[in-house]
Amino acid sequence: MEERLQKILARAGFSSRRGAEQLMLEGRVTRNGEIVKQLGTRADLDKDDVRVDGVRVKAPKALVYLVLNKPRGVVSTRSDPERRQTVMDLVPNVAGLFPVGRLDVTTEGLILLTNDGAFAERVSHPRYEVPRVYHAKVHRVPDAETLERLRRGVRVEGDFMAVDRARVLESDNNAWVELTLHEGKHHEVKRLLEAVGHPVSKLRRVAIGPVTSRGLEPGQFRALAPEEIEGLRRGKDPASGALGRLARRRPRSRPRPSGPRPSGRTPAPRDTGSRDAGSRDAGSRDARTAAPRGASASGRRPERRRAGTRSGRR
Ligand code: URA
Repeated sequence: MEERLQKILARAGFSSRRGAEQLMLEGRVTRNGEIVKQLGTRADLDKDDVRVDGVRVKAPKALVYLVLNKPRGVVSTRSDPERRQTVMDLVPNVAGLFPVGRLDVTTEGLILLTNDGAFAERVSHPRYEVPRVYHAKVHRVPDAETLERLRRGVRVEGDFMAVDRARVLESDNNAWVELTLHEGKHHEVKRLLEAVGHPVSKLRRVAIGPVTSRGLEPGQFRALAPEEIEGLRRGKDPASGALGRLARRRPRSRPRPSGPRPSGRTPAPRDTGSRDAGSRDAGSRDARTAAPRGASASGRRPERRRAGTRSGRR
């Protein structure tokens, strides 16, 4: 599409619009090899070769921010030498898209994907303290002293690890516990719980800052809402404490059982969500919109939504 050169240069990050006019007036802008000084000259980046000081101006890529509920058994890398299914197989084929951080192949739960490197770096950096909430099924039931040890911190194989919050959600002989952490060390939840005598048999990540798994079944993804992107960028904001508050919210609904259970056992927890992702913008197939979609590995579907199904690989 043809647009004024000032607008093109400003959007591509070369300068403000006023600054772009200055660049043109100084004779530093060319279109198809010709210097363009005439303000208001138009160009189409799909067809025209526009340069500033000889540097080609490229159309800025659309930034994409997705959250996927990774099923167990799927690897969270871009490709896998063993040719297992990867998170990239479950989301649209967007140029430059990559997963932010890692989840173990046996862990289910939320993983962000983006083509915005600065965003990924910020969200991953412990300095910004984006809280991650995990639900872990553990052997036996941790007592209050053990939960306190987790909060105080434990040294595991030379790494000091601590949780921000720890509580037992449900228990019989074993327990589901909820841990909130903001670091991101390798296998941190499994190593921590193992170190205090409660090995993990199942693990799910149910929240990353303000983004929760509510309405998103394993295998489904959705675009992040602008306020979620903004919240993740802000990280832990001491002024508002917004992320902390969202991540600390208690589950609104009781966990759903995934099948018949022996009597006396409580169902596995599913979610600590505070928003109903599925109620937003349902129906669109664009990666930049918010409706959850994707083939559910488990065949389950979130309630109150119309989700599309991905056809074909990526
Ligand atoms: N901690 C773990 O042990 N595994 C994960 O996948 C994520 C956090």
